[in-house]
Amino acid sequence: MSAINKEYKKITTKSLVEMKANGEKISMLTAYDYTMAKIIDHAGIDVILVGDSASNVMAGHETTLPITLDHMIYHAASVVRAINRCLVVVDLPFGTYQGNSRKALASAIRIMKESGGHSVKLEGGEEVAESISRILTAGIPVMGHLGLTPQSIYKFGTYTVRAKEEEEAEKLKQDAKLLESLGCFALVLEKVPSKLAKEVAESISIPVIGIGAGDGVDGQVLVTHDMFGMTHEFSPRFLRRYLNLYQDMGEAVKRYVSDVKTKDFPNDKEQY
Ligand code: KIV
Repeated sequence: MSAINKEYKKITTKSLVEMKANGEKISMLTAYDYTMAKIIDHAGIDVILVGDSASNVMAGHETTLPITLDHMIYHAASVVRAINRCLVVVDLPFGTYQGNSRKALASAIRIMKESGGHSVKLEGGEEVAESISRILTAGIPVMGHLGLTPQSIYKFGTYTVRAKEEEEAEKLKQDAKLLESLGCFALVLEKVPSKLAKEVAESISIPVIGIGAGDGVDGQVLVTHDMFGMTHEFSPRFLRRYLNLYQDMGEAVKRYVSDVKTKDFPNDKEQY
């Protein structure tokens, strides 16, 4: 089977479901700004996730909890201005959808109206079912997120692999089916055993996009800054680094500093 079964001019939520049905894997990366989104979209990515990982990579927070709805809208609007083809999914940040479905709907509407994003993502299963249902009533597509859900880090206490025990694995399987039945168009499965992830992907018709969830799922997502090697302190087993930009950019800065100090830059041709 070829890697790409159909050329899409624009990716929609329906395209992703179609890709799963045709056995075509879905590619997804994060972006939080115009320039990065332009590079990624033009290179042919299917989905850009404006992840709340912006809280870590862009703002330097230890967790995803501090990022606000206003911050997410700012990042998402910057991404939307850059893209032509891909689907843009925007994370609903911590505190904007849990325990109050009316607030969840209001938050999702703000994202759609003020950023121009195409859909929202939120973390959790049964606990957030009411919020998901209410957001869907407004015609806003929802992506789920199960397994390691970083907004619950203080409940888990660690970023280690989830659902290794039977009880948690059972709940995850039920939650995946629930998200499908509520009407989510896809879900992210983060850091779970690959056997379980494959089982989940095969048990539902909506695409399952994995991060640290093995090769039996319908697509893959990585945080772009990790995949480019811009971050270097974070090296989980699932991460494939395609570049080592931390080192390359650092070398470039060193050369620039040296050129300025030695009066090599600017030369005659680099001035008016
Ligand atoms: O915020 C994010 O980047 C995410 C991915 C890790 C899936 O949710």
